[in-house]
Amino acid sequence: MMDRLPLLDTHAHLDDEAFDMDREELIAQIGSSMLGFIDPGCDVASSEKAVALAHRYPFVFAAVGLHPEDIGRCRPEDLERIEELARDPRVVAIGEIGLDYYNDEASPHDVQKEFLAAQFHLARKLGLPVIIHDREAHEDLRELVRTEGQGVRGVLHCFSGSWEMAEEFLNRGWYFGFGGTSTFKNDHGVREILSRMPLDRILFETDSPYMAPVPFRGKRNCPLYVEKVAKMAASLKNIPELEMMQIATKNSKNLFFKLKID
Ligand code: NI
Repeated sequence: MMDRLPLLDTHAHLDDEAFDMDREELIAQIGSSMLGFIDPGCDVASSEKAVALAHRYPFVFAAVGLHPEDIGRCRPEDLERIEELARDPRVVAIGEIGLDYYNDEASPHDVQKEFLAAQFHLARKLGLPVIIHDREAHEDLRELVRTEGQGVRGVLHCFSGSWEMAEEFLNRGWYFGFGGTSTFKNDHGVREILSRMPLDRILFETDSPYMAPVPFRGKRNCPLYVEKVAKMAASLKNIPELEMMQIATKNSKNLFFKLKID
């Protein structure tokens, strides 16, 4: 049997309907090729699906949460169901949660902020880390972390902020998720951020089925492609590829302390 890569995809929506045709085969292939992945939910239904998947495969873990783009059709009771799900031993984080001022037609900013604050409180109550989505909402996110996110740690998934913002979150003990965008020709400065990022704060992710890395850009993304991101990071940091993978996996276990993988 071929050795598995010491690699983990910290953000892959395998519950998504894009995988309905071949989910089982793909997950089996992931399990024989790498250490596993975390599937973050975006609403109650997808969080339930993520938890169910995590119970079927020892190398699949779930996060549960209400995504800012879905907030418009969420109800306050949904938070109670998220809390129930979050107590499951296979749930390693609250996520995907955050602020999105780009796709905000159905989700008013003040409602997004209310739900994010409530989910920060839930994470603190349960002692769980968070997985944060931040699109064109950097300043409001920073403010909300300062006021409502005290004592909460997490990962800024697909980080798109400035180095100055990165430093604030580094000081708070947060991590940074790097994925497909860091392989794009026009990376909007992500590689520059990655090259300055301390090794012990780097996580790898795909955001499958979205954001496929080069050379798969535009196609359906999947956790197997996280290898492309890890290799790019290794060359940028000028360290051996396997070592880069091991470092990111160690970081993932530090943040998502409920992960049981080896
Ligand atoms: Ni996502």
